[in-house]
Amino acid sequence: MKAWPYPLWIAHRGAGKLAPENTLAAFRVGASHGWRAFECDVKLAADGVPFLLHDDTLRRTTPARGTAGERSWAELSRLDAGGWHSRAFAGEPLPSLDAIATYVLRNGFALNIEIKPTPGQELETGRVVAREAARLWAASRVAPVAPPLLSSFRPEALQGARETAPDLPRALLLDTLWTGWFDVARALDVVACVTNHKIMDEGLIAQLRAAGLRALVYTVNDSAEAQRLLTLGIAGIITDAVDRFSPGDSLRD
Ligand code: G3P
Ligand code: MG
Repeated sequence: MKAWPYPLWIAHRGAGKLAPENTLAAFRVGASHGWRAFECDVKLAADGVPFLLHDDTLRRTTPARGTAGERSWAELSRLDAGGWHSRAFAGEPLPSLDAIATYVLRNGFALNIEIKPTPGQELETGRVVAREAARLWAASRVAPVAPPLLSSFRPEALQGARETAPDLPRALLLDTLWTGWFDVARALDVVACVTNHKIMDEGLIAQLRAAGLRALVYTVNDSAEAQRLLTLGIAGIITDAVDRFSPGDSLRD
């Protein structure tokens, strides 16, 4: 297997509990705790601009309603994506992928971009996000520590990513081991599978390793569970608990 360029510990949605998830503020908070690798969710505005948001709709994390992907970036970029979290973050905007790339690249951080398409836009979202990610990382004036890792629960999104940026590494996200997952992962030529931590065990890691794939997990917030996974030899742990875990923690030696 090729050397794995990503840190073991990855902050979920930026540092998406201490600050509003998927905002630049969340990344800055994560960085202030020493984190150097981040996961975020990316989808497309109606005019094709990739931006960060977890849900299909705006309701939970902004004052607006309705499907986020039906609004233009000009509309989305004016929304308050921080006030729902706490007063301190009121006015924090939804970030574009461009803005996050600028921050991550300038600071030498690693990024896992979860392609989170608005339903029905899987292929197109994968195509555009991968194309833009490739452009942004290639244009960096500092040498990136690692290429962005593109992951998705949706195979069509990874297929789209493969079409426009075949050289960017891909990972299949798995909440369950649905029928055919392994063949799909192989067919998409992924470098890793990122599973719900509850389904990761010795057998699954061995199956992935035998195929030359890394095993990563989300979202681990319990230290006994983190230790179990570290002992198994997990390659990456996505966590919300950026103030309890240290990105230097390792039991692998
Ligand atoms: O990328 C791993 C994790 O973020 C997947 O779950 O729902 O938090 O995006 P979710
Ligand atoms: Mg995610």
